[in-house]
Amino acid sequence: MAKEIAVSGVQPSGDIHIGNYLGAIKQFVELQDKYKTFFFIVDLHALTESPDPKKLREQIINLAALYLACGLDPKKTTLFIQSHVPAHVELGWILNTITPLGELQRMTQFKDKAEKHGVLAGLLNYPTLMAADILIYNPDVVPVGEDQVQHLELTRALARKFNSQYGNTFREPKALLRKDVARVMGLDDPTKKMSKSAGPNNYIALTDEPDVIRKKIKTAVTDSGSEIKYDPQNKAGISNLLSIYSAFSGESIASLEKKYAGKNYGIFKSDLAELLVQKLSHIHEKYKSLLKNKKSLMKILDVGAKSASKVAEKTMEEVRKKIGLI
Ligand code: TRP
Repeated sequence: MAKEIAVSGVQPSGDIHIGNYLGAIKQFVELQDKYKTFFFIVDLHALTESPDPKKLREQIINLAALYLACGLDPKKTTLFIQSHVPAHVELGWILNTITPLGELQRMTQFKDKAEKHGVLAGLLNYPTLMAADILIYNPDVVPVGEDQVQHLELTRALARKFNSQYGNTFREPKALLRKDVARVMGLDDPTKKMSKSAGPNNYIALTDEPDVIRKKIKTAVTDSGSEIKYDPQNKAGISNLLSIYSAFSGESIASLEKKYAGKNYGIFKSDLAELLVQKLSHIHEKYKSLLKNKKSLMKILDVGAKSASKVAEKTMEEVRKKIGLI
């Protein structure tokens, strides 16, 4: 039987932290063995946040290097830059023509971002391009975070609408939500999700140097008391550090509690810092060496774009025929 297809995109905006790693990248790396996978860097979506051009270019390349450093293997997965497969934009336009305005206006992410960046047409139409990114590969599943479920529902609705208007063309893909990792919270505010926009002391970037990691863990907010116990209600700080420890070491939280019974926060934190230094140093070294040779990095992305284009073009031929363009 042919492998099922998984598709997902990641926005190139700033530092990638351990929350992103545990919530998305690690899952992508696991999926590449089970599914036929298409993973792309959504540079066109990033434009809706008006980034500085030089910075954007750098972030696109850095993100590609980071994905490869984390273990995405170009032999197993199709990794590319969204704008290198222009068919996404063509299908995005076509989907716009069947999307009710009200559906786009009620998207939570649009409302949030419109407050920050102003009501740009690109922000409003963000979900139709995302729907195109997905539907063009006819996937079975789309690994995403909770915040993207609404966009995925719209994608499914657009697939249904297109199919009923023009004949069966698209599959309705399912969201693949990652449930096994507790949400990683901010180090300086463990009541909110870890976030790169909250400032560098809130997160550990995958590319942080060892001493930076040690310092950030040392200064991470902990709770009054001295017991190392998982209790997110009353001990948000220690609970967050415990789940990070567990996710990176593979040890269960219960066994970590046992291991650190009677020990103080300082020892626990210094062990956690060393664990992170050790796990991240491998990724960091590989990342730096990939960035030393940008030419071969771009080559990997070009090969990815070519192979994605083949699949996308096949879908577009069918779409163009169905809607009467050819
Ligand atoms: N909107 C997604 C996010 O912010 C990124 C994205 C763009 C995406 N196109 C996609 C995710 C297609 C999955 C599939 O995370």
